[in-house]
Amino acid sequence: MSSFPTQAAGVPVLVLREGSNRSRGREAQHGNITAAKVVAQSVRSALGPKGMDKMLVDNFGDTTITSDGRTILDEMDIQHPAAKMLVEVAKTQDNEAGDGTTSAVIIAGELLSKAEELIEKNVHPTVIIEGYRKAAAKALKTLDKIALPVDLKSSDFLKKAATTSMGSKIVAEYKDYLADLAVKAMLAVSEKEGRVRKADVDDVKVEKKTGGSLLDTSLIYGIVLDKEIVQSGMPKRVEKAKIALIDASIEIEKTELDAKINIEKPEMIEAFLDEEEKILREMTDKILASGANVVVCQKGIDDMAQHFLSRKKVIVIRRAKKSDMEKLAKASGGKIVSSIDDLSASDLGYADLVEERKIGDDKMTFIEGCKNPKSVTLLIRGATQRMTAEAERSIHDALCVVRDLIQEPKIVAGGSAPEMEMAGALRKYAEIIPGREQLAVRIFADALESIATTLAENAGLDPVDILAELRTRHEKGETWAGVEVLSGKVQDMSKVNIFEPLSVKKQIIKSANEAASMILKIDDVISSGKMNAPPTPPGGMGGGGMGGMGGMGGMGGYPGGEF
Ligand SMILES: Nc1ncnc2c1ncn2[C@@H]1O[C@H](COP(=O)(O)OP(=O)(O)O)[C@@H](O)[C@H]1O
Ligand SMILES: [Mg+2]
Repeated sequence: MSSFPTQAAGVPVLVLREGSNRSRGREAQHGNITAAKVVAQSVRSALGPKGMDKMLVDNFGDTTITSDGRTILDEMDIQHPAAKMLVEVAKTQDNEAGDGTTSAVIIAGELLSKAEELIEKNVHPTVIIEGYRKAAAKALKTLDKIALPVDLKSSDFLKKAATTSMGSKIVAEYKDYLADLAVKAMLAVSEKEGRVRKADVDDVKVEKKTGGSLLDTSLIYGIVLDKEIVQSGMPKRVEKAKIALIDASIEIEKTELDAKINIEKPEMIEAFLDEEEKILREMTDKILASGANVVVCQKGIDDMAQHFLSRKKVIVIRRAKKSDMEKLAKASGGKIVSSIDDLSASDLGYADLVEERKIGDDKMTFIEGCKNPKSVTLLIRGATQRMTAEAERSIHDALCVVRDLIQEPKIVAGGSAPEMEMAGALRKYAEIIPGREQLAVRIFADALESIATTLAENAGLDPVDILAELRTRHEKGETWAGVEVLSGKVQDMSKVNIFEPLSVKKQIIKSANEAASMILKIDDVISSGKMNAPPTPPGGMGGGGMGGMGGMGGMGGYPGGEF
């Protein structure tokens, strides 16, 4: 199996390099499915508000504590190619919808594990894939049917959805406060484009500074720069700021060539320095002529120029990041100029206040009170760096959820209610699907129900009882019956304000189905000799701090040892 020899006229022909490995058919499928299942298993216990958190330790000993599906998988040093595809699911889900990563990975894992049972009963993978395709299409239709439209005139549902997404995070205790900030931030930067609204999470700048508590986290209608004002002689505060955004150095250009100046008389030095001063003065005069009282420069600025500006009570910030310059332009309504000669009053941005403040141990510059800013800043505070990091990840999810709803204002209730509805619809649908594809549609329904059982398990409830009750109540037409894990009861999730964007749920189905189908299609795994190197560096996967991830041991050496 390992060499790939072909017998041609008695002479063995080696196609692959020596040391290459190959596994095919059932064996390859089994290896891939097992690996993917292990990955899904590792995030399972993190699902929902009662999910557990993970502590991840990297090769340098840095730890991350999170309950975020994508982060867990990102931090794990996964090597197996099929397992990596599940990591991709989390990435796709995160990029497309921003929330629902854990759910997508769990469902993908279930789709594979259930498919394996069918394969063992001799159902061909292509039949399963086709059945899954039909099931996914039907599931998406069901979601569309049950989704409720949201009126964006009120931010009520935006807030509820943002709060739901925060509810399953470590920072859940502060979910109301943080969700409110996320909604306000996203609404501020959203814009009407024709008949739809567009919003981009990149327009919300997230800065974090350790210190204080999460309740000190604030929304600034402008930009906070992690920079101090260049000279202590400059004012620390300017009201009604007119801001010049300059992408050019305010220095004398150094010549490219090694020029040599022979100075013969002391007067020559003076003349030389005078000339330098004159050039710098001209530059600063041009800036002052525009009416600017704040200068944010992407490049360097000469001490002498700083001095001239300081005398005129102008605040200067240098070496601002390009991305910050762009955000500042959006926030203040200013224009970035790349030559001081081009700077005019109309290029200046506006802010009610520019002020340097001490935050924690550092000085930061606040540019706030911008008029109708199209970029804003969330400044996250928290007792420890780990806390602010997890808050940033959680706020990211909330911002994405709000963005999703702004762009597609449709909502579903959570707590596995939509998954149960889809499962019910699929079982009915299966009855009209002929042949073995019907079996695939049925197991797709089972896989969707794993969200309910996982939520229940993680909350210490009996998954069998909960599932039975959910099925009965959905059959009776209770669309939003779900398992509310805080009370531990099956109830109408729309009454307890657990809401999620339709687009998140749809993306979960798409991402999970795509990944599962892709893995099922593989029946031949050929790996070059290079892959035979020890798969994990010391301290990698095996000792990666993911204690309790039973079954992970099989990953290190690749299931079946086929690679
Ligand atoms: N109070 C609640 N009771 C039951 N389920 C909830 C509750 N709040 C949120 N959920 C559910 O938790 C799931 C999301 O959990 P989460 O850990 O954020 O995973 P994901 O990465 O998939 O978003 C969703 O199915 C959501 O409906
Ligand atoms: Mg979530």
